[in-house]
Amino acid sequence: MKAVRLRTEYLSEPLGIDITRPRLYWNCDEGERQTAYRIVAVRDGDTVWDTGKVPSSRMSHIAYDGAPLGSRDCVAWSVTLWDEDDRAGEPAHSRFELGLLAPDDWSARWITGDYTPVRDVRYPVDCFRRTFRTRGPARRARLYITACGIYEARIDGRRVGEFQLAPGATDYRHRLQYQTYDVTDLVTGRGAGPMAGGGAGDHVLEVDLADGWYRGSVGCFGVTHVFGRETKLLCQLEVTYDDGSRDTIVSDDAFAWSNDGPVRFADLKDGEVYDAAMSPTYTRQARLTREHLTPTASNNVEPRTHEVFPARLLTTPGGARVLDFGQNIAGFVGFTAAGRKGQQITLRLGEVLDEDGEFTQANMQVHKPVKEFGPETEMLLITGQTALITEELQPTPRQEVTFRCSGTGRDHYRTAFAVFGFRYALVETDVDIDPADFHAVAVYSAMPQAGTFACSNPDVNRFLENTRWSMKGNFLDVPTDCPTRERLGWTGDAQIFVDTAAYLMDVAPFFRKWLLDVRDGQFADGTSSAVVPYNGASVLYDNSGVSVGWADAVVLIPYRLWKRYGDEEVIRDCYDTMRRYAQFMIDNTGHQDPEAAKANPYDAYVYEKGLHLGEWLEPTEFRDPMPSRAQPPRTEECTAYLYYTMRHMAEIAQALGHVDDAALFARYADGAKTAYQHLFLTQGGIDTDRQAKLVRPLALGLLDGEPRRKVQERLVTAVEQRGYRVGTGFLSTPFILPALTDAGRADVAYRMLENDQAPSWLAQVHAGATTVWEDWEGTASHNHYSPGAVCQWLFDTAAGIRVDGENHFVVAPVPGGTLTHVRAAYTSLYGTVHSHWEKTPAGLTVTVTVPSNTRADVRLPNGEKRTVPAGTHAFTITD
Ligand code: BGC
Repeated sequence: MKAVRLRTEYLSEPLGIDITRPRLYWNCDEGERQTAYRIVAVRDGDTVWDTGKVPSSRMSHIAYDGAPLGSRDCVAWSVTLWDEDDRAGEPAHSRFELGLLAPDDWSARWITGDYTPVRDVRYPVDCFRRTFRTRGPARRARLYITACGIYEARIDGRRVGEFQLAPGATDYRHRLQYQTYDVTDLVTGRGAGPMAGGGAGDHVLEVDLADGWYRGSVGCFGVTHVFGRETKLLCQLEVTYDDGSRDTIVSDDAFAWSNDGPVRFADLKDGEVYDAAMSPTYTRQARLTREHLTPTASNNVEPRTHEVFPARLLTTPGGARVLDFGQNIAGFVGFTAAGRKGQQITLRLGEVLDEDGEFTQANMQVHKPVKEFGPETEMLLITGQTALITEELQPTPRQEVTFRCSGTGRDHYRTAFAVFGFRYALVETDVDIDPADFHAVAVYSAMPQAGTFACSNPDVNRFLENTRWSMKGNFLDVPTDCPTRERLGWTGDAQIFVDTAAYLMDVAPFFRKWLLDVRDGQFADGTSSAVVPYNGASVLYDNSGVSVGWADAVVLIPYRLWKRYGDEEVIRDCYDTMRRYAQFMIDNTGHQDPEAAKANPYDAYVYEKGLHLGEWLEPTEFRDPMPSRAQPPRTEECTAYLYYTMRHMAEIAQALGHVDDAALFARYADGAKTAYQHLFLTQGGIDTDRQAKLVRPLALGLLDGEPRRKVQERLVTAVEQRGYRVGTGFLSTPFILPALTDAGRADVAYRMLENDQAPSWLAQVHAGATTVWEDWEGTASHNHYSPGAVCQWLFDTAAGIRVDGENHFVVAPVPGGTLTHVRAAYTSLYGTVHSHWEKTPAGLTVTVTVPSNTRADVRLPNGEKRTVPAGTHAFTITD
C-alpha cells in the first residue's frame, strides 16, 4: 500500500507557509485498509520527527509534532503505510517550507516611487529595478515579496512565479499577504536565461507595481484610494550558497525607479492603457516609506492563469467588429499586432450581446460620480436615486484596454494588472488585425478540480459546467458575487454555494483564507459586513452586516468545511467569531413592534430587527411587492435563520466541549422553532405558491410530523402549478430539489431540474449561457454562481455521493427524470469515490468505487443497504 496525494495543510508541497505545526494528509493507493503509518521528517539532513509505526487508519489532519520549526525551514517528509496484512509499502515523499515567521526576519524596507501622489489622480505603473551579483552557484534562492498595490517581479527578464495579481486581496487595514518564490533557477541561470551555465554573475531584479485593490477601483461603485494614496513595495531576495553563507538583497533606496514603462494606466476593473513604444528608464531612485503591517503568509492556493480561448470575429448588424471567445470568463486578454507607431487598438470587454446583436456592457455597469463621493452619494447610488446626484456620472467598470503600437514590428500584449469578466471584445482600431492573433485567458485561484459529473441530458451537463465556470470566474483569492459590476466578497453568495463549490473544486485552503478575511472584518457588535473584505463603499460595508443568510456565513461555512473535510481546527479557529455573531442574534430577538411583542408568547425567540435582504432575487412574478424600495418585514426568513444558526452553533459548541454555550444555543434553536411554527402555522398553515416560503421551513428543519407533510404536499402543488419552473431566490435555490426529494418526490425535483421553460436552470442553457446568471431573467450579471448551487444536488443526490465522517462515505444514488445514466466522481479528502448508475434492459445497474482505506454505506434505490470496503462494487436491480 502506498500513500498518494501527499499534502501539507491541504497544499501540495507549499512554499512559505507560516504554520509551524502543519497538518499532513495523504490518500491510500492499492490495498484495502491502512493499518499503520510511519512519518519521517527531515530538515537539512537531520531527522526532526519520526513517528515510528503508528497503528492507525488515519490519513488526514496529522499535525507535525517533531522538533520546533523556524523561519525558512524546509522539511522533507515521507510516509510509509502498512496494509490489512501488515505489509509495509514503499515510502512516499513530500515537502513543505516555512516562510518568514517573525517581523525581524524582514530586513527589507518599504519603498515607493519618487513622487507625491495626489488624491483622485491616477498614475502609471511604477517600475523598480535593482542589479545584484551572485558569488557562485546558489544552493537555494528565495524571493519574499509583497506590496500595497499589485506587483509583478522579474529576474533577468523572466517572470518570478505564477501568482497573478499578487499579493492577493485582503483587508489591507488589517492583513497583507506576502509570497515566497523559489528563484534558485532564475539566479543560477539554469534554463534559458542569460546566465545559462550557472555560477557567479550579475543579475537584474525588476518589479512593476500597480494600484490593484489598494489604490485602484474596487467594489460596486469603483471607489478608489480605499486603503491609501501611496502604493509601495517590500521585497527580500535571499541567496544561499553551497557553504551555507547567504546574501540578502532587500528593497531600499538603492532601488532605481521610474514610471515611464509601457503600462500608462492600470486598474483592476477599468482596464489598462499600454504604450508599446515605451520602456522604463529607471533614471530615478525609489524612496523609503513606511507601512504599519507585518506581512503574513497566505497558506492558500495562488491565483494563476488557466484555460486559453481563441477568438472568432463577428461583425454585428450595426457593423461593429466583435471578438467572441466562446466562453464567459474572468481573466486577461492577449494579442499580437503590428501597427505604425502610435496607432491604437481599443478593446472593450463585455459578457453579452444585446437583443439587436450589438456589443453591450449595460448588464454589468452602474454609474458612479466622476469625482470621488461621500456617504450621501453612496446612499443615493445604493437606493438607485441617481437622479438626485448633481455631480457628473460615469459608467463603471469600464473593462477597457487601450494599446498603442510601437511601430517596430510585432507587439505583444497580455493584461497583467486588471481582470475582466467577458466573453466578447469590441474592437476599435485601424490596425490590420487577425482574430487568430487574439486570445482570452481565464484567471482564478488554482484549486484542483474535485468533482466530475456527466449524465444523459447534455443540457444538465452544460449547466454544471456553466456553474463551474461561474465559480472559476469568481474564486480569485476571495469568493466574489460577479467578476464585473461589484466583484465583492458577498458572504451570502459564498454561504449558499460553499457545498457546490467543494464538490466542483478543492476549496479547503481557499475558504480558510477567506474566513480570516471574515474574522478581520467582524464588527465590535459581532456582525460582519455582508461584503468581505472591506471595499471602501462604507455605507454598504457598515450597514449590510445583519442580514440573515449573509451574516450566517460566519457560522455555516466553517460548519460545512468541518463536516466535509473533517477539520475540527476550522471550527475551533472560528469559534470566537461565530460565537460573537450568535450572541448578537440572541441579543436582538423580539418583535420590533411592541404590540406584536406583547401578543406573541414566543417573542423572545422571534428575530427580525435590522436590515435583511430576504430571499433575494426570486423571479419577478414571485417577489414581495416593494413599494418605493421599502423593505417588507422579514420575520419569516429571520426567525428561520435564527433557528438554523442556533442549531449549527449548538452542534459546534458541543463538539468543542463548550457545554454551557451548547445549552444556550440549543435553547434558542428550540425557541425559534416554536416561534416560527406559532407565527406561520397556527393560522391555518402556509398556503402560498411562493416556493421559497415552503422550501425554507422544510429544508431548515422547522417542521415535524403532520405540518411538515402538509407543507411538502403544498410545495409539490406550488411547483406543479407553476409548470415546474423555478420560483426561488438566492437563499432557497440550493434547497428546493433536496426538499422535494425528502418529500419523496424526486420525480418532481427532476422535472424541475430538466424543465427548460424560464425561469429555470436549463432555460439559461437554451438561451446560450456559458456561465450562471444573477437573476432568472438574465438582465443583470451573467456570471453569478449562486443560482448554480443546485449542483450540490447533482452530486449528493442524483449521483448520491456524500462524505460521512472520517474515511467513510454514503453513496445513495437517486435515479430519475429522463436520465438514463449518471456518472460522477468526487475527490474528497479521503480519496476519489465514483458513482455510476445506468438504466439497462436488464434493470438498473449501480456501480460504486470506494477508495483504498475507506468504506461506504451504499443505499440502493430499491431500499437495499450494503456496507462495502474499498474497491468497485456493482449491483443490478431488476424491477
Ligand atoms: C450582489 C449579490 C449580493 C446581493 C445582496 C448584489 O448586488 O451582486 O450577489 O448577494 O447584492 O444584496
